Amino acid sequence: MLEKKWWHDVVMYQIYPRSFQDSNGDGIGDIPGIISRLDYLSSLGVGGIWLSPVYASPMDDNGYDISDYEAIAPEFGTMADMEQLIAEAKKRNIRIVMDLVVNHTSDEHAWFIEARQSKTNQYRDFYIWRDEPNALKSTFSGSAWQFDALTKQYYLHLFSKRQPDLNWENENVRQAIYKMMNFWVDKGIGGFRMDVIDLIGKLPDAEITGNGPKLHAYLQEMNAAALAGHDLLTVGETWEATPELAKLYSSPARQELSMIFQFEHITAMWHETKWAGNYFSVPKFKAIMGKWQQELSAENGWNSLFLNNHDLPRVLSAWGNDKEKRVESAQAFALCLHLLRGTPYIYQGEEIGMTNCPVTTLAEVDDIESRNWANDALKTGHTQEEVIAGINAVGRDNARTPMQWDATDNAGFTSGTPWLPVNANYKRINAAQKGSIFETYQKLIALRKENDWIKYGDFEPVTSEATVFAYLRTYQEKKYLIVANLSDETSHFSSSYKNRQTLIGAAPESLNAAVLAPWQAFACEVEVG
Ligand code: GLC
Ligand code: CA
Repeated sequence: MLEKKWWHDVVMYQIYPRSFQDSNGDGIGDIPGIISRLDYLSSLGVGGIWLSPVYASPMDDNGYDISDYEAIAPEFGTMADMEQLIAEAKKRNIRIVMDLVVNHTSDEHAWFIEARQSKTNQYRDFYIWRDEPNALKSTFSGSAWQFDALTKQYYLHLFSKRQPDLNWENENVRQAIYKMMNFWVDKGIGGFRMDVIDLIGKLPDAEITGNGPKLHAYLQEMNAAALAGHDLLTVGETWEATPELAKLYSSPARQELSMIFQFEHITAMWHETKWAGNYFSVPKFKAIMGKWQQELSAENGWNSLFLNNHDLPRVLSAWGNDKEKRVESAQAFALCLHLLRGTPYIYQGEEIGMTNCPVTTLAEVDDIESRNWANDALKTGHTQEEVIAGINAVGRDNARTPMQWDATDNAGFTSGTPWLPVNANYKRINAAQKGSIFETYQKLIALRKENDWIKYGDFEPVTSEATVFAYLRTYQEKKYLIVANLSDETSHFSSSYKNRQTLIGAAPESLNAAVLAPWQAFACEVEVG
């Protein structure tokens, strides 16, 4: 039985607070800055904001290293600002989804400060300590184990050594996290985006990190303790999820999460590893997106839909054409993604077609993952040029440059010196121009709100040329055709259906033997010809 949920109707918008809007000239985006831009988000039409972390943090990983879950980082504002953000957003029908980073804390969290004091400290077992390291590697390069001189043991950190992993086997850890989640739920938030949540069931001694045996038991326990009865959107970040695993997380009957972020369409485009760079294969993209569409329906789970976030290069630069066909490729990606079944997520700047921001020297790189990788790569014989090319292709700073609001100094992001330089193209690419990319997103968001076929219709791939992503959505006897030429080449599309009504984009006169311009995309209601 289909149970309708508010997140079936909305498009979410991810804010990376450091880079969204500075309000006090210190060069760092902040919560008052976000509040000042709520009308912009409301005009776009989004129904929720995924807010990357704003909690107290030494900012080793820009806030994904939390030192106090119940305090706001002073550079982002105060708890009063946060409460105002929740309230002001609510007035505009926008819910705030907080980032929940509970695989690890900061090494400056009070629990870790205590834990490292002695082997018998009451918080010792909040973290994972061993006498000897094993072969586990950190996502941010090097061993996942750090020696702590005071007690002469190693602690586990799957990310930076300043992000010690919490020990979820410990019941006290779990209860403390659920209590903290309730603190936020009571403030009236709309849900949680759960950072690397698939790692919390890890078995470090067996070198199992993702999808450990107790993962789903923990999520069910969490749901009962902190989520049930509050109508929240929860989305787990799960890099290794398959559709089968996605059903475990998101099947309504199982009472775990609303949905997950799967990354198959992202990692499939990596040469070997992330750092070897990206390519874009439309056939692979179609096959992967199609598989997820067919596997998950509202009855057995739910999809999230995204191409960008704060960890990925801008899709326009990675897969699209961010030069001559920037507008067209942005619109084509938006159109074919947003008319799928699932909840779409827009990452700040995506709606105006922001692009990657290349650097020429390593000194310009801020991101800890890129810096650690660069150190490693230089040691293992890569040249400086190769390292910079790698960072320019996939480094996380690409997506983290300040939001480009207008053509004034620093793109209207700050009156001071931005913490990360503004992309040099801001005079041409900025939100003040309200260009056709923004209008496309606006229209797609409105279409989703109004049309149940987008939320619940069946999905069927339509045979097409390799470069063309085409699919049919069917709902209550009506049929809708979505076609996107995801390439710089002229392509062809042929169908026996007739266009009843174009809904968005530029549809050709006849669907029979149509010639598609590079990145041409459209959706229409069709009837049997
Ligand atoms: C997630 C976040 C990323 C962060 C990492 C460690 O992948 O999206 O930004 O660095 O977890 O918290
Ligand atoms: Ca600021």
